[in-house]
Amino acid sequence: MFTSQGPTLRELAVQALSSTEHGYDLLAPKFDRTPFRTPGRFLTATADALRPLGPFDAGLDVCCGTGAGVETLLPLCRERVTGVDFSAGMLAAAADAVGDPGRGGPAVDWVRADARALPFTEGYDVAVSFGAFGHFLPAERPALFSGVHRALRPGGLFAFPIGAPQPVTSPWYWALLGFDGMMRVRNLLWRPRFVMYYRTFALGGVCRDLRDAGFDVRLLPLEEFGRRPDGSPRWRLVVARKAPSASRATALARSAQRTAGPIASDAPGNTAPSTSHPGTPHTTRSQVSRSGPTARASGTPVPKKP
Ligand SMILES: C[S@@+](CC[C@H](N)C(=O)[O-])C[C@H]1O[C@@H](n2cnc3c(N)ncnc32)[C@H](O)[C@@H]1O
Repeated sequence: MFTSQGPTLRELAVQALSSTEHGYDLLAPKFDRTPFRTPGRFLTATADALRPLGPFDAGLDVCCGTGAGVETLLPLCRERVTGVDFSAGMLAAAADAVGDPGRGGPAVDWVRADARALPFTEGYDVAVSFGAFGHFLPAERPALFSGVHRALRPGGLFAFPIGAPQPVTSPWYWALLGFDGMMRVRNLLWRPRFVMYYRTFALGGVCRDLRDAGFDVRLLPLEEFGRRPDGSPRWRLVVARKAPSASRATALARSAQRTAGPIASDAPGNTAPSTSHPGTPHTTRSQVSRSGPTARASGTPVPKKP
């Protein structure tokens, strides 16, 4: 819910007329006092479902915002947790909110990058994402999912909650339809675009795109949210696993390439271009910090506060 400490109507209007990235920069200081931050019960349900699938060494929160997913991953990961987002304002708010877990806890890194071109290669055992998929058009999902796939180590998991569609009899159905319609008109008439649609992330297409990106997909019902009258879960956790043998597949593909010519640069398990941000296997926090901001807009490690 919005509270008196949250953004004013005027601030929300200015944000909505900005680009997605700049809109979040503006919203960042008050984001945690809006309903857009993922509520704790979704984070807890995700952590509870992931815990038996761990332990994990390194975790990645894609579109981390102010760090909801990073905080969820901290107790599940032994070595490090990275939050990635393209809004510098959100990353600054996240670094303030999460702080440093201190000695003994996993290291925390913040990286500024576009999730449609994630700059990591086989650096993580688990990736999560909360509340951000409405910012991606269906045509952008292949780039998003293959970037997460590349960021994961063989056998790594990509997990996120997904809700069942609202029935046409629900007022929510019409409210979300109306919101998406308004945003489509706004984006036809106004630049820069602010991409945020509620009804573009349907389970069937999402599972298909995950499989096309190389994942094996499982759905875990999140029972704490109850079931619909037809017995299906209101919310599920999508758990997409990268094949454990991906490295071997890459080695085989490379050896085939030596004999048969080039392989596609976005083939599953293939390595990212040499300009990628660390996040490659065995990258440590200090290596990330030492590398400093790069000339590229994406993949920029956010310098730590002194
Ligand atoms: C609604 S917020 C969710 C934040 C957080 N995950 C949470 O659940 O509270 C959406 C976040 O996605 C980020 N985002 C949107 N599009 C992005 C993109 N293409 N690349 C990286 N971050 C993106 C925004 O900057 C924003 O921080």
